Amino acid sequence: MTFITGDIHGYIDIHKLSSKEWPEGCNLTKNDYLIISGDFGLVWSDPAKKDEIFWLEWLSNKPWTTLVIDGNHENHDLLAKLEIVEKFGGLVGKITDSIFHLKRGYVYSIEGKKIFTFGGAESTDKESKILKSNGNFKIIKRIEGKDWWAGELPTEEEKNRAWKNLKKEDYKVDIIIGHTFPQRFIDKYEAILKISTGRINDPTSIFLEEITDVVKFDKFYGGHFHDDFEIDKYRLLFDNIVEI
Ligand SMILES: [Fe+2]
Repeated sequence: MTFITGDIHGYIDIHKLSSKEWPEGCNLTKNDYLIISGDFGLVWSDPAKKDEIFWLEWLSNKPWTTLVIDGNHENHDLLAKLEIVEKFGGLVGKITDSIFHLKRGYVYSIEGKKIFTFGGAESTDKESKILKSNGNFKIIKRIEGKDWWAGELPTEEEKNRAWKNLKKEDYKVDIIIGHTFPQRFIDKYEAILKISTGRINDPTSIFLEEITDVVKFDKFYGGHFHDDFEIDKYRLLFDNIVEI
């Protein structure tokens, strides 16, 4: 069986995978998969901090195998340095014996399904305003190479790899998984909820729009917006864990 959920942000939102909150996970085996659609965040410090090691072990000791799409809250430099192994008909990064990074632009075969993955997204919180108890605002800036990485955005090499691998599949897959979504989904989501996500002209969303204009697929899954919502073939996940 293969399941998918949204962001876990290191261990901040990992509780959804506990046996208390997801008892179904207890019945799985290492031949079953749980996909996290970005903002994994447990490959973060170099060297890894004690709490990151603890939670990687916690997740590795779960009955299933975890597969990770990269989001924007990731140390992309460290993800790029992972040992590369062949798996599911493509190349993946090995995080532990039981956790693997599904890289951008591959079409993986997982339990008989063709799954195209393309993670990453542009951070919109590189600078944020925090309201202090005295009523004043404090500006918090994320620093490149410390808490955000330029690798959050797609490279030409990754885009070319995507088109090359999709061509091999005759531009038809079962599932597409991103961290963010094509722009058309974001526009509809904002219109329905009457909100502004502040995520406009993200290069990854623009690329995913180009991909979904051409490629035939049954379902698109992603995270990034910290919500559970469905529009047509597009399923946004955060707390929900669904079987694909
Ligand atoms: Fe997130």
